[in-house]
Amino acid sequence: MSLLILLYSRTGNNRVLADLIAEKTRADIAEIHPVGWYPMLRVIWQMATGRRPRVRTLQHDPDAYDRVLLIAPIWDMHVAFPMTEALRTNKAGIGSYDFVTFCGYTRDGQPDAARQELTGAIGHPPLHQMELHIGDLVPEDQREDPRKVSAKRVTQSDLVHFAAQIAQIAGWYDPA
Ligand SMILES: Cc1cc2nc3c(=O)[nH]c(=O)nc-3n(C[C@H](O)[C@H](O)[C@H](O)COP(=O)(O)O)c2cc1C
Repeated sequence: MSLLILLYSRTGNNRVLADLIAEKTRADIAEIHPVGWYPMLRVIWQMATGRRPRVRTLQHDPDAYDRVLLIAPIWDMHVAFPMTEALRTNKAGIGSYDFVTFCGYTRDGQPDAARQELTGAIGHPPLHQMELHIGDLVPEDQREDPRKVSAKRVTQSDLVHFAAQIAQIAGWYDPA
């Protein structure tokens, strides 16, 4: 089965995860890039106004793959905006897909909200969906503080804590 990972990562956490999953599944990665500079201030402005970034043309055509795995952060209960914009632009080429996010923490309703957004952007829901939480990597007394959690930058060696989830994700693409 050919697999394309469609990745958006602003500060690197989801990129670290995507690289490891790509290695395990022999997937190609197509990274989504907003057009121009995309600082956090711009993200916050877009959260407040509902505006969305334009994104560059993808380097790989999703239509050429059997399956697509979307990997992106969650921002204020939304799938990161460059991801949903790339999906709207490429929706005709996306058939069976899954969604994984390396986000901050558990929030009530967050997985359902992401599922609805993805279904709205593509026209059909993901086959599988999973959240990994960077909050699991910060000291327990900081886990309730979204700023401290969001400041965490994941390294390759942190991923050992998520070995079971990563094996489960790789299993989605294992024909056996
Ligand atoms: C402005 C902002 C809002 C966020 N909102 C959420 C949220 O609603 N839920 C959540 O689980 N994580 C939230 N996070 C945490 C990010 O999803 C997390 O830091 C993610 O790992 C960043 O991914 P990246 O390094 O690949 O860009 C937020 C982070 C920022 C900066």
